[in-house]
Amino acid sequence: MKVDVIMAPAFLKKDDLKGCLCVVVDVLRATSTIITALASGAIEVHPCRTIDEAKASVAKLPRSSYLLGGEEMGDSIPGFDLGNSPFEYMAAEVVKGRVIYSYTTNGTGAIRKAFERSGNPAYIGALLNVSAVSSALVKTVSAGRFEGLTILCAGRQGKPSEEDNFCAGLLIDALVRGLRVCGIVPELSDTASTVARDAVSNRGHSLEVLRSSEHGQYLESLGFEDDLVFASRIDLYDVVPVFDGKRAILLH
Ligand code: MLT
Repeated sequence: MKVDVIMAPAFLKKDDLKGCLCVVVDVLRATSTIITALASGAIEVHPCRTIDEAKASVAKLPRSSYLLGGEEMGDSIPGFDLGNSPFEYMAAEVVKGRVIYSYTTNGTGAIRKAFERSGNPAYIGALLNVSAVSSALVKTVSAGRFEGLTILCAGRQGKPSEEDNFCAGLLIDALVRGLRVCGIVPELSDTASTVARDAVSNRGHSLEVLRSSEHGQYLESLGFEDDLVFASRIDLYDVVPVFDGKRAILLH
């Protein structure tokens, strides 16, 4: 069982994800927000590639059935109902029973790419659900359906981001321990071992990792420091969203 990490979609080579089980991570903030929305009662989240795609997708839907959410370069999008702060998706009275169409700068495109390139449903991970995702991965991998597992980090503007690598590393550490219990010894790429080693040495300092990251500092400059505190909470939720090519729903 090969385990790899791709630090940003720009590093993907043509067949890197082919046939793999994928997890997409965008700690600040797309995947943290999707997890929060679904854990708070939203029915589905549709990750969109563009703002226009999001608007076109809802054009014929009853107004009360959906919410448009997301951000562009951290800021809210004119005409959208919600931004991309997880706090906006926490109130059941806002999201319960709603279908959310979301566009974000890096994260929603990465989710779409993971599905398109792998041909398989993609798991959605963040620090908020590290244990839930790694347990689900162990279960799926030990059922023997996949030869490779890749964590695709959304990164930032085509480059790696510290917070996503940190989360990928914690996921790998938990995955390796879980697989060993099942008698499976995974074969880690150098990238996977490196991010796991770095993450383990920083476990217990997740907020510091987020604060020292470029995107963390950018979000703080926009006034979103509480989003960093929230997104740094490891295992707040015991849920795993899965994107099936159309929408992300909770894995049951
Ligand atoms: C993204 O997709 O780039 C992010 O989620 C950005 C953000 O919300 O700050």
